[in-house]
Amino acid sequence: MSAYQQNADWSATSVLVTGGAGFIGSHLVELLVAAGARVRVLDTLATGHRENLSAVAESITLHETDIRELDWATYLAEHPTDVLFHLAANAYVPPSVETPAVDCELNFATTFRLLEALRVTRWPGRLVFASSAAVYGNSVRVPIREDDPTVPISPYGVGKLAAERYLAVFAQLYGLRLASVRFFSAFGPRQRKQVVFDLLAKLERDRERLFIHGDGTQVRDFLYVEDAARSAMIVAANAPLRGEAYNVGAGSEYTIDQLAKSLCRITGVQPDFDYSGSNRPGDPEKLVVDISRLCDIGYRPAVDFDQGLAQTVAWYESVTGVRWS
Ligand SMILES: NC(=O)c1ccc[n+]([C@@H]2O[C@H](COP(=O)([O-])OP(=O)(O)OC[C@H]3O[C@@H](n4cnc5c(N)ncnc54)[C@H](O)[C@@H]3O)[C@@H](O)[C@H]2O)c1
Repeated sequence: MSAYQQNADWSATSVLVTGGAGFIGSHLVELLVAAGARVRVLDTLATGHRENLSAVAESITLHETDIRELDWATYLAEHPTDVLFHLAANAYVPPSVETPAVDCELNFATTFRLLEALRVTRWPGRLVFASSAAVYGNSVRVPIREDDPTVPISPYGVGKLAAERYLAVFAQLYGLRLASVRFFSAFGPRQRKQVVFDLLAKLERDRERLFIHGDGTQVRDFLYVEDAARSAMIVAANAPLRGEAYNVGAGSEYTIDQLAKSLCRITGVQPDFDYSGSNRPGDPEKLVVDISRLCDIGYRPAVDFDQGLAQTVAWYESVTGVRWS
């Protein structure tokens, strides 16, 4: 462990987070501020929110900037940056299916222009790019490892993979210090979609019956958002940054049934479970992730499943005002 720092010193570090007002980005900004970094955020607030950063508003600089329009070389010359976390993106598959050109422009072309500016200016900093498990497509074996085949099945997955590949080649050819983190599905406070939020919204609407897709036995990796954010910091601090990619997950396995039961226990709601019986098309029975590459550079999930769910329920209560009993 001696070669790696669990708690790297960020106090003299100038950090830029694109997409820092978003779900994962805002948690990352909070951790960076707590670690002493000087943080700037570029965000259009398209899907992010200023309130996501309210706890650190006095400590950071937030610019409402569309990174598609940015002249990166000029920007980085005017704002020297040691570490750049590039998270701004269309973060979900469905919009990429509806408007692939929009997704391609933001997720791929904008990332390419950033990399090109880093190349031309011989940027000496470190960059971590937010990629996605979507690069794997319908992975054929579990747990998923980084060197498994990448066969994306959505424009979103293709864009992330193309950006990752350019990043890897630019790191190798031009000596830039770059890496990608392949986030698997994260959950936690400030996320208003996906399975944990959806189950809470269903429980709020109907305390008697809880509808569950499939038979509840589907196995998933539930990544708590703060651990997702922490992993990006660990990669920036400890990784070789030669263009490599890291799976980011919790590294543990829970079924949808276990998730639903935990949420019921935490909220005190006791509905009957109503199973649809069959999985939705494209929904695999088992989706788990091998995180040993990330663990080898010092990552350990810090928030366990129930703790993460309890914090998410507390946030849900605070924003909806729901009373469970
Ligand atoms: N949430 C997950 O489970 C997950 C899984 C895999 C990958 N990712 C990736 O992680 C990153 C963060 O995802 P998230 O869940 O926090 O999504 P998010 O939508 O909450 O965050 C994206 C942020 O980017 C900002 N943004 C969008 N377009 C912009 C532009 N043109 N210029 C500047 N800012 C812009 C948005 O306003 C938002 O704050 C994304 O790159 C996403 O693809 C997330």
